[in-house]
Amino acid sequence: MQAFHLRRQGDIDSLELETDTDPTPTKGEVLVRVRASSLNYRDIMILEGRYGRVPFIPGLIPLSDGSGEVIAVGEGVTRFRSGDRVVLTALPCWLAGKITPEILIDQPGANRPGVLSDLKIVHEDALVALPEPLSFEEAATLPGAAVTAWVAVEHVRPGETVLVQGTGGVSLFALLFAKSAGARVIAITSSDEKAERLKALGADEVVNYQRQPEWHLAVREATSGRGVDHVIEIGGVGTLERSIQATAMAGHIELIGTLAGGGSLDAAAFARNIVTMRWASVGSRGDFEAMNRAIAVQHLHPVIDRIFPFVEARQAYRHFQSRSHFGKVVIRHDG
Ligand SMILES: NC(=O)c1ccc[n+]([C@@H]2O[C@H](COP(=O)([O-])OP(=O)(O)OC[C@H]3O[C@@H](n4cnc5c(N)ncnc54)[C@H](OP(=O)(O)O)[C@@H]3O)[C@@H](O)[C@H]2O)c1
Repeated sequence: MQAFHLRRQGDIDSLELETDTDPTPTKGEVLVRVRASSLNYRDIMILEGRYGRVPFIPGLIPLSDGSGEVIAVGEGVTRFRSGDRVVLTALPCWLAGKITPEILIDQPGANRPGVLSDLKIVHEDALVALPEPLSFEEAATLPGAAVTAWVAVEHVRPGETVLVQGTGGVSLFALLFAKSAGARVIAITSSDEKAERLKALGADEVVNYQRQPEWHLAVREATSGRGVDHVIEIGGVGTLERSIQATAMAGHIELIGTLAGGGSLDAAAFARNIVTMRWASVGSRGDFEAMNRAIAVQHLHPVIDRIFPFVEARQAYRHFQSRSHFGKVVIRHDG
C-alpha cells in the first residue's frame, strides 16, 4: 500500500510517500480503501509536536479524518460488508456516553497510524455509514470538525443567538448546524472577503475582528446590548475574556480550541456575567450517527475550501497552515 509517513517534527518536507506491506483484516476488522481525508488544526499541532501529552512519533502516518469503501472484512464482522461507503471515527474507542481517559489511548494520526494512505485497517466499531447525499470528499470532513460542532450546538434552541469565531472547519460546521437549529448566528472573522462569504452561508451579522479588536462590543450591540446565548469558542484564553463579555447573563460557552494563543483570563469574569462553560472536543460514534441523520434529512453539505490530489499532501498541509482557507481542506486519494 502507499502511505505518507511524517519523518521529522515540524518539517512538512519530511512527509514522504512510501510503499508499505498491504494489510489483511483479522477478526472484527475491516479493510478500507481510503478515498479522501481532511486536515484539522490538530494535525498541525501533531506535526509541530505540541499536541497535548502525545509526543511526536517519527514515521507516523498522519491524519485522523477519512472516508472510503470497504474492500474486505475479517472474521465475525457484522456491521459492514464489501462495497459499503464508510467514514472513520476520529476516536475509535468512543462509541457512546462521555469521554474517558481510556478513549484517548487510541488516537489515529497522533499516537496510532492515521489515514493518509490508500488502505487502512479499522475495527468495525470505528466506522459509520457515509451519509447518503455526501461525496467521499465531503464525508472526509466530518469525523473531527463536524462532530465537535454538532456536540457544541446540541443545546441551541430556535431563536437563540450563537457566536462563531473564524472560518475554519469547526466554526463553519457550527454555523451550519446552528442555522439549521433555527438560531441567529453572529460570526467574527479576519477579513471583509471572508465576511461576505460568511453572510452568503447564512451568518446574520459578521464582525471583522482585525478592524474591530474590541469585537465583543460590536457583538453586544448586534444583540441590542443583551449578549449572545452561546459561544463556540475556538480562540481559547486569548479570546475568552472578550467572549464572556459578549455573552448574555446565564449564557453558555463551549470551549473547543486555543487558536488565539496568549492572553490571560480573570476567572472573576465568569462570575460577573454568570456564564457557564464546557470543554467540548469531538464526540462519540453515537453523536456522529445522530449528526449524519440530520445531514441527510436537512440536505446539509460541508464547506470545502480546496481538494488536493493525494500526491500533493505536502501542499495541502502548507495551504492549511497558511490559515487562508475557508472551511475544510481535503485530500483525494485516487489511484
Ligand atoms: N477540527 C477538529 O476536529 C477539532 C476538534 C476539537 C477541537 N478542535 C480545536 O478547535 C480549533 C479550531 O480547529 P479547526 O480545525 O476548525 O481550525 P482551522 O480550520 O485551522 O481554523 C482556523 C481559522 O480560525 C480562525 N481564527 C484563528 N485565530 C482566531 C482568533 N484569534 N479569533 C477568531 N478566529 C480565529 C481563522 O479564521 P478567520 O481568518 O476567518 O478569522 C483561521 O483561519 C483548534 O484549536 C482545534 O484544536 C478542533
